[in-house]
Amino acid sequence: MTEEVLAPAYPLFRRPDAYHQKRCASALRNRIQRWSERRALRALLDSAEGIHSVCDLPCGIGRSFELWAAAGLSVLGIELSAPMAERAERERAALELPGRVEIGDAFDASAAHGRADLVACLRFAYYFSPVQRRDLLAALQSRSHRYLLIQYRVGNGVLGRWKSARAVVRMQRRATRAKHACPWEEIRPELESAGWSVLRMRRQSPLSDRVLILAERSARKS
Ligand SMILES: C[S@@+](CC[C@H](N)C(=O)[O-])C[C@H]1O[C@@H](n2cnc3c(N)ncnc32)[C@H](O)[C@@H]1O
Repeated sequence: MTEEVLAPAYPLFRRPDAYHQKRCASALRNRIQRWSERRALRALLDSAEGIHSVCDLPCGIGRSFELWAAAGLSVLGIELSAPMAERAERERAALELPGRVEIGDAFDASAAHGRADLVACLRFAYYFSPVQRRDLLAALQSRSHRYLLIQYRVGNGVLGRWKSARAVVRMQRRATRAKHACPWEEIRPELESAGWSVLRMRRQSPLSDRVLILAERSARKS
């Protein structure tokens, strides 16, 4: 497996066990976050008509594979880090989830890849600036027959403003790891200018600054 990096600088995760420990372990805060994320994802998945396959990009360790299995979907997992992809492939096999995991770059917009009915992009887009997100949204189009399910962070509200201020301080220390918030009212125009029509937007929970968005390829780009 080779890793060709087209993407703007963003760290590849190399320690699947550490990621699992951080995101899937049983600390109360993680459990609440996971529960609210899943609840919001299920609600949006229910609004997507006639889907049979999902492209999980980047899939990391396959954190969401259980959800795709429960929804009766097949998966095309894409991940640029080989150790993460290997762990995801093991997770897919253990769940008997139909599909495959491949090494690939989320920013690769070439036409020759596998596609799915829905592309899910979780815990990723908000690491990039608006200009970089435009390229990402275009690349995600090349993977989707119809739908996109993507997670943003909003800068509105007290919590959002506090997190945005904290991000600015962090960015001064380590430019590539800071998260970029996008105000709620700018999300729709940003997706629309990249060829996606927004169908639903849903905050992960009332206090969360994360928003899940279900969008559909707009007619002019399909
Ligand atoms: C924060 S994790 C999110 C993974 C998964 N979506 C989830 O929700 O658990 C981000 C992942 O993106 C991978 N990654 C970084 N740059 C990438 C790129 N250009 N293309 C594909 N994967 C990338 C990292 O190795 C890491 O596993």
